[in-house]
Amino acid sequence: MRKTIVFYLNGKRHEVDGKMALMTVSDFLRYEKSLTGTKVVCAEGDCGACTVLLSRMIGGKLSPYRTMNSCISFIYSLDRCHLISVEGLKLNQELHPVQASMVQHQGAQCGYCTPGFICSLASMTEDAKLEGFPIDRKKVQNYTTGNLCRCTGYEPIIEAGCNVNLDKVTSIRNLYQDEVIEKDLNSLGLESVQIEGENSLIFLPAGLNEAVQFKAQYPDTRLASGSTDLGVLSNKGKLKLTRVLGLHQIAELYEIKEESDALIIGARASLSDLENASKSCFPEFSKMLHLFASPQIKNSGTLVGNLMNGSPIADTIPFLRVAEAEVVLMSTAGTRTLNINEFILPGYKQMQVKADELLVSIRIPKSPHRYKLYKVSTRKDLDISTVTFAARYLMDGLRVSEFSLALGGVGPSVLRMSDIEKRIQGNVLTQALLQSVATSLRTEIKPLSDVRGSSEYRHQLCHNLVLKFFDEVAAECGIKATEASV
Ligand SMILES: Cc1cc2nc3c(=O)[nH]c(=O)nc-3n(C[C@H](O)[C@H](O)[C@H](O)COP(=O)(O)OP(=O)(O)OC[C@H]3O[C@@H](n4cnc5c(N)ncnc54)[C@H](O)[C@@H]3O)c2cc1C
Ligand code: FES
Ligand code: FES
Repeated sequence: MRKTIVFYLNGKRHEVDGKMALMTVSDFLRYEKSLTGTKVVCAEGDCGACTVLLSRMIGGKLSPYRTMNSCISFIYSLDRCHLISVEGLKLNQELHPVQASMVQHQGAQCGYCTPGFICSLASMTEDAKLEGFPIDRKKVQNYTTGNLCRCTGYEPIIEAGCNVNLDKVTSIRNLYQDEVIEKDLNSLGLESVQIEGENSLIFLPAGLNEAVQFKAQYPDTRLASGSTDLGVLSNKGKLKLTRVLGLHQIAELYEIKEESDALIIGARASLSDLENASKSCFPEFSKMLHLFASPQIKNSGTLVGNLMNGSPIADTIPFLRVAEAEVVLMSTAGTRTLNINEFILPGYKQMQVKADELLVSIRIPKSPHRYKLYKVSTRKDLDISTVTFAARYLMDGLRVSEFSLALGGVGPSVLRMSDIEKRIQGNVLTQALLQSVATSLRTEIKPLSDVRGSSEYRHQLCHNLVLKFFDEVAAECGIKATEASV
């Protein structure tokens, strides 16, 4: 059993013990290493000033370098990783081509946001080299969705991104000779890591057996995945992490397997990987994930974390509920599989999970059904939903032969609307049906009023989303919704 966290930072090996394991990565960089290029502004994953790049050893190899928010990530999660801060992007004292382009296009005024933008744009150039795609305005905007600038205005930054000289980019893999780092990190062997601090215990098991044994021994242990929820709670003082179980070392949990009848998503698979993997089998879900948070959050955050956080406005839960997804839970007693609609219980954050269980994967069955997934938020990107809507349906001419509906943001949990489903299923799509559904929604949901919207506003949104759904389905059937009355 190893007792220290081992990782590389800008090509240099580091080994830290219990005192620092629960420090945020941004604090470690700034206060322990004096790498003050990494800034902290919001400390909750929203602004991107703290963006760094991370590559993790999975199955003996370093993964592609991806951005993450260092303000909500903890040092223990860096075990067997290579972390690159903005200072690490320079090559032999020469600016990285992204930095050179930012200078040339005057992409900084106060400069506080600049290092984060540079890391995000550097991750774009990494992917462009790896995958061979050309850089354009849309790509630059997508890669910088998680970065806010308050003074330059985005235009010069976008210009800088669009004009990076890709020929001059040396990929980080080559810059730091990743084979040498991989050799060293592989030489550590795959053993569990246990870090004890004054009042903390962190366990990073090498395999699932060790993980479930630890959970059985310490049922109050906090499972940590990407920490995009946990990190925010901890920074806001709403959660004190003391005993932590991280599944970061278990390579099989990073897998997303597409089988003939299902997509199976491991507990540690990132939302970014899921967005890619679901493109062909669940395109509506992939599109929805495109609007989820930012690249930094999606590179760390997981589907399992989104489900287990249990928020009534979690973006993936409405889809999982109508898709009849199955959750696979594991403990020392073995494995059990539950349909998500049994797993989620009525009430705020209530789930059928035992104290000694961990969630190891989610299985989404394939089927001939079609989906409509809508997210309404105050702004399009990097915003939390006010209301979410997921419908799964099959049409037989104008008859809705099968129909499932889930709504988020209208109750203490994401709700499956079974009464409305019964009204619609088997019926012909008509104006009268549409009107009766819209009317019954009034009595079936009781949304709260909060900063994101009043109860009345949420009622109106749901009403409008039902109309939008019928409009789109009618168009698919080759008619206008107003004609759908025969
Ligand atoms: C800036 C920002 C933007 C965001 N935008 C969105 C958004 O657009 N839409 C949205 O839905 N969410 C959003 N979120 C919330 C968050 O990113 C997601 O909920 C994410 O999916 C959480 O995954 P994670 O791996 O980081 O979970 P973690 O923070 O690691 O964990 C979340 C919960 O799951 C539990 N858990 C983790 N792994 C397991 C396991 N294997 N078994 C059992 N329990 C487990 C943890 O104990 C914890 O209670 C946002 C968060 C931030 C900070
Ligand atoms: S400081 Fe704002 S995202 Fe980290
Ligand atoms: S240059 Fe000041 S915040 Fe962007």
